[in-house]
Amino acid sequence: MNDQCLSCQAVETDLKLTGSYHPRCSRKLFGTARPPKVPFSTPDIAVEAQKMVGRMSISGIQPKLSLIHERKSHQMTVVETGGSYILKPQTERFESLPENENLCMCIASACGIAVPSHGLIPLSDGRLAYLVKRFDRLEDGSKLQQEDFQQLLQTNDKYKGSYEQIANVIRKYSDVPGLDLVELFERALLNYVLGNGDAHLKNFSLIKEENIGYHLSPVYDLVNSRLVLPEEREEMCLSLQGKKNRFSRKDFIKLAKHFELTNKQSANALLRLHDIKPAIENMIAESFLNESLKDRFLEIYRKRMERIFG
Ligand SMILES: Nc1ncnc2c1ncn2[C@@H]1O[C@H](COP(=O)(O)OP(=O)(O)O)[C@@H](O)[C@H]1O
Ligand SMILES: [Mg+2]
Ligand SMILES: [Zn+2]
Repeated sequence: MNDQCLSCQAVETDLKLTGSYHPRCSRKLFGTARPPKVPFSTPDIAVEAQKMVGRMSISGIQPKLSLIHERKSHQMTVVETGGSYILKPQTERFESLPENENLCMCIASACGIAVPSHGLIPLSDGRLAYLVKRFDRLEDGSKLQQEDFQQLLQTNDKYKGSYEQIANVIRKYSDVPGLDLVELFERALLNYVLGNGDAHLKNFSLIKEENIGYHLSPVYDLVNSRLVLPEEREEMCLSLQGKKNRFSRKDFIKLAKHFELTNKQSANALLRLHDIKPAIENMIAESFLNESLKDRFLEIYRKRMERIFG
């Protein structure tokens, strides 16, 4: 019989999977060959998340919980502080958000973008939630310095900003600006083709790591928002070359120029995105979304790829 890994989403004979995870995917996320149990349900989370409002160090709009992996009982446990995972459950408002986010992260990873370990995990009511390992916490519990671009730009509106402004901050504060600007260019492209209309200033951060210094943090909060909000007004919520809609290849080329990428760097990024299309289409088709959401996701993705590549 076939089964599918809840982390990398590859389809396998179930002999290769334990608890619907590849042992290696489970080890990467949990440090154990088999994924832990989650002893609470989707409705429990709404109650717990409400209690945590204002107390947790991770903010954001969607309900979420901070968790640790309790090795002794091999269970995930909710904690107020010092969590090393973030769990985002199913929500009433947006259909299949966990499946959507896990798919987008798998796609980002396939595109060579830095992603934290992530996966889907069944709660006690059998529904899947999205789980991601915190990249700002080290194994010994210490915390890395992290600053999002709303803080860095000192603005109070996370939707008022542009990719050019993010690039300017990178030039000013990053210890590896050249690498970060290439990565930012790739992320702008990816946010566009994935229909992510919610990549605002708080969804980009700089993080300080011992050996590297400040650099663009791994990607987070990557979802196809167009899929759940078809009436969304803008294609991108941060502007790019002064626009939030009707993008073409030209706009991205101009953006790359503003970032001072070489022609070769921008051409390579575009070529990679072009060449990976069949693999991404396959990932969408084999994702955990239902058939109608898969079809719409594919449609959004193809339309936007067409805008760039014709
Ligand atoms: N893997 C992660 N590691 C560390 N911090 C994270 C991670 N994912 C998200 N965060 C932090 O938590 C905040 C909320 O998470 P996010 O995924 O953006 O949720 P929301 O959908 O509610 O905006 C983010 O703005 C970021 O600061
Ligand atoms: Mg967010
Ligand atoms: Zn896997």
